[in-house]
Amino acid sequence: MRSLTCFRIFVACVIVVLLMFNDRLRSAEPPRVVAHRGASAYAPEHTLASYRLAMEQGADYVEQDLAVTRDGVLICLHDDTLDRTTDVEEVFPGRSTVDPATGRRQWLAADFTLAEIKQLDAGRWFAPQFAGERIPTWEEAVGAVGSRAGLYPELKSPQIYRSRNVDMTTIFVESLRRLGLASAPASRLIVQSFDETSLRDLARQLPGTHRVFLIEVRDGARWLSASGLRDITGFAAGIAPHKALLDGRAGIVQDAHRAGLTVTPYTFSSRTPSRFDDVSDEMRYYLGDLGVDALFTDNPDRFPR
Ligand code: G3P
Ligand code: CA
Repeated sequence: MRSLTCFRIFVACVIVVLLMFNDRLRSAEPPRVVAHRGASAYAPEHTLASYRLAMEQGADYVEQDLAVTRDGVLICLHDDTLDRTTDVEEVFPGRSTVDPATGRRQWLAADFTLAEIKQLDAGRWFAPQFAGERIPTWEEAVGAVGSRAGLYPELKSPQIYRSRNVDMTTIFVESLRRLGLASAPASRLIVQSFDETSLRDLARQLPGTHRVFLIEVRDGARWLSASGLRDITGFAAGIAPHKALLDGRAGIVQDAHRAGLTVTPYTFSSRTPSRFDDVSDEMRYYLGDLGVDALFTDNPDRFPR
């Protein structure tokens, strides 16, 4: 009888230790896969084709980078400019400006109306079978994703709009209200940005939104310190660092978890060289060895489950 009691106490102690030291067990949440610009290894980024394929490949969330057109509509576009992923140079040859940083011609999305942007082909640059794909609006993306996956919009380059007296965050908040997403749970909507001001604005306007702060390599030292992580808890529930900031540094993931922040590194892609032979192995390392909660990938089908 006494030995049975001892055994029970031993089992209970083992469970307590596991719960204390294993973040995955503690949260009981399975790791999540965010489709980066859709299934962008296989279909043109930020097209409905790419979003649909991501969901077929089992994405938990589909990412949308957001930009604002000249007439104030949110569209899904990664670059500030239209020239890399559309035929804007052919359709609007006389509408370029000069990029002051490089001296090269550029076609800024913010200089075009939605009607103009809808004339552009956003698929042919990637592969001929995607010719005719269009740049979706944010609201079209929400409709296409429906309830099959969560939404993971990024407030991208807000400084461009501030310099034009356009408040991107307020436009976004109004859109969430129209779409019935203003108080959506984290399983439905997570908002990300590299811009602290935008996330703080969003927190003020819609405190219930789940917000994630993106951290690029050059900002790692500032934000991944103990005081930096503490500061982030004032305006976000999670961090999304460049994956290089975490490689070999499981302690940062643990520090973030102790601060109550989720960790979602970016970006895992079969198209980008890495020290791993295979993108699935790379994702497995970040999920298993480092203990991240989720990750952004161009290859949702290669996510280790
Ligand atoms: O938002 C996560 C990741 O997408 C950040 O990088 O440049 O692809 O938006 P980027
Ligand atoms: Ca992004």
